Amino acid sequence: MTNADLEKIVDTSDEWIASRTGIRERRIANGMVTSDLAVIAATNALEMSGTAKDEIEMIILGTVTPDYRLPSAACVVQQKMGLNNAAAFDVVAACTGFINALSIASSYIENGNIKKALVIGVEKLSTFTNFKDRNTCVIFGDGAGAVVVSAEEGDRGIINSFIKSDGRYLKLLWSEVGGAANPYSESFDFNGTDKIMMNGSDIFKIAVKEMSNATLKVINDAGLTVDDISIVVPHQANIRIIESLAKRIKISMDKVFLNIAKYGNTSAASVPLALDEANREGRIKDGDYVVMVAFGGGLIWGATLVKW
Ligand code: COA
Repeated sequence: MTNADLEKIVDTSDEWIASRTGIRERRIANGMVTSDLAVIAATNALEMSGTAKDEIEMIILGTVTPDYRLPSAACVVQQKMGLNNAAAFDVVAACTGFINALSIASSYIENGNIKKALVIGVEKLSTFTNFKDRNTCVIFGDGAGAVVVSAEEGDRGIINSFIKSDGRYLKLLWSEVGGAANPYSESFDFNGTDKIMMNGSDIFKIAVKEMSNATLKVINDAGLTVDDISIVVPHQANIRIIESLAKRIKISMDKVFLNIAKYGNTSAASVPLALDEANREGRIKDGDYVVMVAFGGGLIWGATLVKW
């Protein structure tokens, strides 16, 4: 769905969307559900890493748009892929879902409990987007990304992770109706309260500050400096947020990966989608230090430092 397509639906313009957000297109997964997207990404990740299905001992899936209220999307993926040797569960951490899921996988592996985990970030946000609200509908898109995390000897891998949240900001980005607090009832006009609602400008400021702090924390905790980092793979929410982050932590934009123009904000899918594209484009070399960083509804934020 292009910005021109949105101009026909709400009072907006390609110029406004591109200049305020950096987004030109987003993907809408018509005819598919969240687990379908996840299965495609997960199948590619298993293939790319040469992992057999029975090696996967844990499936951790970050999403706020599961197929069903119950069970988890991770269990649906498990069933669709026949990953019968795994424990499967979802992580509800909005746009930070992949970072949180990765940190859980990393802890289980470091503790020696498991050897291989499949970590997925996936969203079908278009189902929960209010296409009458120009504040939100221009921003979000659908997508999926996945990685296999393995126990290996040597100094490569996840060096450290940092995750944090602040529930005082929960109403800056939320869906009010549809949960236990406000269940659906038939024949009631929800007026968009069952879709994503957002206070963009307040989120913007907190996002820049906390993404910067999280990035610097994982770098400094590892005894490194920003100069040691080869690439930052940030959550693709708004190009101006990403540019402000780069300025704040004093890293050149050449070292920051961007694909927001094609996908918009795909929440938990955003970081693994960007990581995969950066990798396929040859932007990440063996031994490089990579920082992934995200923030989202909660508010919630986190970062992971990887030696590739
Ligand atoms: N097209 C045209 N105009 C729009 C618009 C759209 N799609 N959306 C909002 N506007 C209007 C507003 O109504 C407002 O008009 P007004 O001044 O007459 O009231 C004007 O544009 C400016 O709105 P404002 O909200 O101040 O713009 P902004 O520069 O803060 O940009 C966001 C809005 C949403 C792009 C920006 O705040 C943002 O990206 N915030 C972070 C959101 C985010 O990342 N959320 C996900 C977290 S994971």
